[in-house]
Amino acid sequence: MRFDIWSKGMAALDVDCLVIGIFEDGQLTEEARALDSACAGRLRKLLARGDFPGKAAETLLVADLPGIGATRVLLTGLGAKKSFGRKAWRKAWAAAVAALSRTAIRSAALAIERPDAKELDDYYFGRAVAEIAEASLYRINDLKSGKKPKPAALARVLAGPVVRSAAAAVNRGLAHGAAVAAACRVQRDLGNLPGNVCTPTFLAEEARALAKRHRSLRVRVLDEAAIRREKMGCLLAVSQGSAQPPRFIVIEHAGSGRAARSADPIVLVGKGVTFDSGGISIKPAAAMDEMKFDMSGAAAVIATLTFVAAIDLPLRVVGLVAAVENMPDGKAVKPGDIATSASGQTVEILNTDAEGRLILCDALHYARRFKPAAVVDIATLTGACVIALGHHHTGAMGNDEALVRELVEAGVRADDRAWPLPVTEEYAEQLKSNFADFANVAGREGGAITAAAFLGKFTQGMKWAHLDVAGTAWHSGAQKGSSGRPTPLLADFLIRRAGL
Ligand code: BES
Ligand code: MN
Ligand code: ZN
Repeated sequence: MRFDIWSKGMAALDVDCLVIGIFEDGQLTEEARALDSACAGRLRKLLARGDFPGKAAETLLVADLPGIGATRVLLTGLGAKKSFGRKAWRKAWAAAVAALSRTAIRSAALAIERPDAKELDDYYFGRAVAEIAEASLYRINDLKSGKKPKPAALARVLAGPVVRSAAAAVNRGLAHGAAVAAACRVQRDLGNLPGNVCTPTFLAEEARALAKRHRSLRVRVLDEAAIRREKMGCLLAVSQGSAQPPRFIVIEHAGSGRAARSADPIVLVGKGVTFDSGGISIKPAAAMDEMKFDMSGAAAVIATLTFVAAIDLPLRVVGLVAAVENMPDGKAVKPGDIATSASGQTVEILNTDAEGRLILCDALHYARRFKPAAVVDIATLTGACVIALGHHHTGAMGNDEALVRELVEAGVRADDRAWPLPVTEEYAEQLKSNFADFANVAGREGGAITAAAFLGKFTQGMKWAHLDVAGTAWHSGAQKGSSGRPTPLLADFLIRRAGL
């Protein structure tokens, strides 16, 4: 999709469709008034008949209004004017794109009233226009046989109205938004693939293929033998029950400019469990299929690196992905087994379903060699996080309050929100073991935090944050599929870190 701006003369715009917002209470927006006077009052007449009440996210396509260049107008409901803000605007624009995608319309100009600049400034307006448009057009990788649905015709969107002084910021937002959206597509495509396709080996090959398309990226893949040489005993313990060999993927982006290249990097670490059966501590059958999404953290890391490469972010970023499959087997790790992590610390594996922290602890230890300015891991780590925060917020934890705050604030700006949970010393005490340095589980209470406390044993001396995306990385039910979160949050965090 191509994005651009329009500034004035809506009636003369050379597009297939104008998208006009309509309030529920009949008050016309500035754009609606301009359209109405261009088409000799036809809009007011239509609304007066009651054909379009302006309910939030409802749309009506009107053809061949006189006096304007566009052959169609898409009326889009904004709901009540008094409750109109960033959220209602987002909903309206998403609904408009969804409606446009079912037509033959190839180009559209957005002329929906904008929320207050305090809620959505010029830059974030551009970002949201692009991110929402692309997300609404996303289709799940098609593994259905039979006739393929036609892709949407919409290929060009003009955002506006944009005054001249705002053009640069909006254009920058559009460019960043398109890159965030492309990254989300990478994440969602990987997440939506079935576990028999998206294996650790497949993830590594995809990372390599993506790096070929982005010149700033370097990829190295450790196979099982190399992982053994790194002494990643916890990661290997998880992997040993699977017929699929593990992979450890290292993706590096060297930002252009000497200062950027030599600075300490941000290291992102992703949990890449391509299927989590629970292992010997096997999960119940209900919804076990959703454990194909247990590599969403890994997918987010790979996706975010394509984003930093696409916009040539002037910042060093390293992505680490620990990719394994967690299966029960005669060779699988058993409850009570003790593994030695790459850090040398020993872990009693009391529950083989707490496998995410086992692969992450070795990946986090690997991060040390980069002397990172900050390490952020992204993981579908605990069901407890879903109980704590539901599906709206990602859990944000870590050992550095400022870093956690930075991520939470990035999530607010990116409309991809996270909420802090406290990782104080008490939680780590629950991980006591009689047989090893500590156990990999600590009971049900505070499960999201004790998981973080476990990771905290491996991140001492580094500025570290942990994003538990168990509740946010995918949708269940009729809309089952990857959400692309928290890639927008990570993108925003990195943009700010780079000082853009
Ligand atoms: N991948 C799961 C976490 C999960 C569960 C994510 C449900 C999304 C939905 C993780 O590996 C896991 O199984 N965690 C256990 C930990 C427990 C054994 C301490 C959990 O949350 O039940
Ligand atoms: Mn598990
Ligand atoms: Zn898991």
